[in-house]
Amino acid sequence: MASWLEIIVIDYLSLEYAHTHIRLSSSGKSNMHLIVALGLLVCAWIWMQGTHGEYFIGVGSYDMTGPAADVNMMGYASFGQNTAGIYFRLRARTFIVADSLQGKRIAFVNLDAGMASQLLTIKVLERLNSRFGNLYTEENVAISGTHTHAGPGGYLQYMIYSVTSLGFVKQSFEAIANAIEQSIIQAHNNLKSGSIFMNIGDVKGAGINRSPSAYLQNPEEERARYATNVDTQMTLLRFVDGASGKNIGAFSWFATHGTSMSNKNMLISGDNKGVAARLFEDWFASQNKSSNSNSTMPDIGQLVKKAQSIKATRGKDCNKQASQASKVRKNDGSLFVGAFCQSNVGDVSPNVLGAFCIDSGKPCDFNHSSCHGNDQLCVGRGPGYPNEILSTKIIGERQFKSAVDLFESASEELAGKIEYHHVYLNFTDIEVELDSNKVVKTCPAALGPGFAAGTTDGPGVFGFQQGDTKIKKLWKILSGFFKEPSQYQLNCQKPKPVLLSIGEMLDPYPWAPAILPIQILRLGKLIILSVPGEFTTMAGRRLKEAVKKTLITSSNGEFNNETHVIIAGLTNTYSQYIATFEEYQHQRYEAASTLYGPHTLSAYIQEFKKLAQAMAEGHNITRKGPSPPDLSSVQLSLLPGLFGDSPPKGIKFGDIKEDIAFPERGYFTKGDTPSATFWSANPRYDLLTEGTFAAVERLKGERWVAAYDDDDLSLFFKWKVDNSSLHGLASLVWEIPNDVVSGVYRLKHFGATRITLVSPINYFTGASSAFAVQ
Ligand SMILES: *[C@@H]1O[C@H](CO)[C@@H](O)[C@H](O)[C@H]1NC(C)=O
Ligand SMILES: *[C@@H]1O[C@H](CO)[C@@H](O)[C@H](O)[C@H]1NC(C)=O
Ligand SMILES: *[C@@H]1O[C@H](CO)[C@@H](O)[C@H](O)[C@H]1NC(C)=O
Ligand SMILES: *[C@@H]1O[C@H](CO)[C@@H](O)[C@H](O)[C@H]1NC(C)=O
Ligand SMILES: *[C@@H]1O[C@H](CO)[C@@H](O)[C@H](O)[C@H]1NC(C)=O
Ligand SMILES: *[C@@H]1O[C@H](CO)[C@@H](O)[C@H](O)[C@H]1NC(C)=O
Repeated sequence: MASWLEIIVIDYLSLEYAHTHIRLSSSGKSNMHLIVALGLLVCAWIWMQGTHGEYFIGVGSYDMTGPAADVNMMGYASFGQNTAGIYFRLRARTFIVADSLQGKRIAFVNLDAGMASQLLTIKVLERLNSRFGNLYTEENVAISGTHTHAGPGGYLQYMIYSVTSLGFVKQSFEAIANAIEQSIIQAHNNLKSGSIFMNIGDVKGAGINRSPSAYLQNPEEERARYATNVDTQMTLLRFVDGASGKNIGAFSWFATHGTSMSNKNMLISGDNKGVAARLFEDWFASQNKSSNSNSTMPDIGQLVKKAQSIKATRGKDCNKQASQASKVRKNDGSLFVGAFCQSNVGDVSPNVLGAFCIDSGKPCDFNHSSCHGNDQLCVGRGPGYPNEILSTKIIGERQFKSAVDLFESASEELAGKIEYHHVYLNFTDIEVELDSNKVVKTCPAALGPGFAAGTTDGPGVFGFQQGDTKIKKLWKILSGFFKEPSQYQLNCQKPKPVLLSIGEMLDPYPWAPAILPIQILRLGKLIILSVPGEFTTMAGRRLKEAVKKTLITSSNGEFNNETHVIIAGLTNTYSQYIATFEEYQHQRYEAASTLYGPHTLSAYIQEFKKLAQAMAEGHNITRKGPSPPDLSSVQLSLLPGLFGDSPPKGIKFGDIKEDIAFPERGYFTKGDTPSATFWSANPRYDLLTEGTFAAVERLKGERWVAAYDDDDLSLFFKWKVDNSSLHGLASLVWEIPNDVVSGVYRLKHFGATRITLVSPINYFTGASSAFAVQ
């Protein structure tokens, strides 16, 4: 804001200068120089519009891909769903908006991760504090997960979230913490004067309600106010650099689960939102590229001949930089950042064809999403069914296309205050005053049997059904083995039958969070509500409406009907679901996973209204609330470390095991999938951050140049242990895309290993035989 004033003054002075200058040369023709002066004023105004902005804006992005082998994926909590390669990489994407270079600011970080984690937030803020002092704190930093279910887990501190990952996985945690920090540093260093344009629209066909019978429990009058049982709204921000007028980034919020990839998938990916981000950033980069018009189509005969002369290399030593040099999109901090953020996603599934019984092909039971009582037989179908990679692409593409439309037509400029409020709450026993003046309480965290049943996106344990309000005796005995719920808890959680009283389970360390942060961020007329979980569609609508109403009624016209409120889901920490009181009665998965009892949503609304009121009335929040614990020192880590990978005798890492299999015609074309398998070491030795395990190289003259890497949707890096020899194998599979350029190609692998726990890491590489593509 200060800079804006300065600019007006400077402009005024330079205008005065121009004015006198004109006066001298136009020798007294006063009408003339009035016109010229007015013209200059208009020009100055246009120039100001074009070259400066309301805010200081910076964007950043950093690779956060964790261990691509052996680590349980975060999301489905499915034992054995461990990483085994990469579909495409995970990134942390950040924007910072400030009112001046050292002034008030907010930082929003979008993570290709299942959710935020309390420990990540604590540790990253410590790092930011030692680097930037108190510029970035829990108050003004929001760290939000996209909810992909295809990223490595073990980075959360509460026990319930690290059972299937065999506890804490330091490598997962460090990859994400480092990426958040690096992306914030980048955004911070990029801060420049600029403008923000907001646009709002609908996304079609990217989500359906996966618990419609629960949604129907909400009052009819309330449901009648909405066209659909999911929120289809996408809100997009376009960030523009003030000096150049160039677009520098776009962040959007839209609710749909990151469950296009199933619980059988083992390849790391950002799921549908990750696809949308990859497509958006690539689309932006390709916009003004002079189109690769291959006017002279190379002769395929010559390409084949050239390719035939180039055989697979043997495995060779290399260094880490060799992998990074083969990265197609190099991160020098100047890239356009496109991010797809999560919202009130609780009951929204990307498996938009609906859920069907895998035995009969018929729709599942409506109230329980089971098939003749068996929850495991009822599975949702994405639009690419039965191909989940295709489903992921389609749902990603639908979000991407909506975002492009909103981006290209975003013209409403945000202006006005940057503000934020944040408070920690102990959700164990918040007193909530209902409209009827009745006072009720939230409860210690607990899960019901509907949680164990899982969802149609990923069925859970056999023997449970969504909507169960009774627990079978056997399970009661088994869950009592962990901890018998207190009578207080049993009463408090009703009608949820308590399967796991995780709020009362404190050994070996707390199983569930008690302390949760809530946060409200403001950018002019845009209000972002950071929530530490997954609000269902209606729960989110109620929260947004209550906050907006409070802002309007508590302010003197500063907020009005134009104020736009959005929810940033899975932000700052994680505490599962938030269903409405009415949905809670039905105890489907989302309700059974609403940890703090039937009044959880009412507690959120009550507490967010306090923050909104403070913001509207211009008060500070003096109550910080109880700090969440840092449990880093007590984490169990049972995932074995690794060292000593070795290739079979006489073979080197990077040597080829299975070379390219040529089709009869002798060359490949669009839609073909050339592949090669290399002897390799476990990819956990080095994550090759901002590098790649796989590249498709094209021969340019006598030089090989990377054309695709493991961040491309067309190239798959798959890792496995050969089941007979127990040696590691890396397979590279390239689905030749439609826009491929004809030429001579080869597949190249990068890896790393270490002989003993203390020996240094050795890097290696190897390449397949060359092949022609037309
Ligand atoms: C592409 O060109 C258009 C028109 O010249 C310009 O407005 C836009 O900013 C350019 N985009 C990029 C990515 O340079
Ligand atoms: C679902 O349950 C409700 C009661 O909660 C019942 O009225 C309805 O008939 C059930 N629907 C089906 C299809 O079973
Ligand atoms: C939260 O509140 C409960 C009930 O008052 C209390 O027992 C517990 O110690 C509190 N938790 C924390 C982490 O402060
Ligand atoms: C406020 O906006 C909503 C929708 O955005 C509209 O339906 C309503 O009529 C508006 N109210 C007023 C008082 O302008
Ligand atoms: C709020 O806090 C800020 C910084 O601590 C201070 O400058 C400001 O005066 C306070 N505002 C009110 C209304 O107390
Ligand atoms: C080894 O893997 C192959 C294919 O991956 C499979 O067909 C075979 O049954 C496996 N053998 C054993 C002993 O697991």
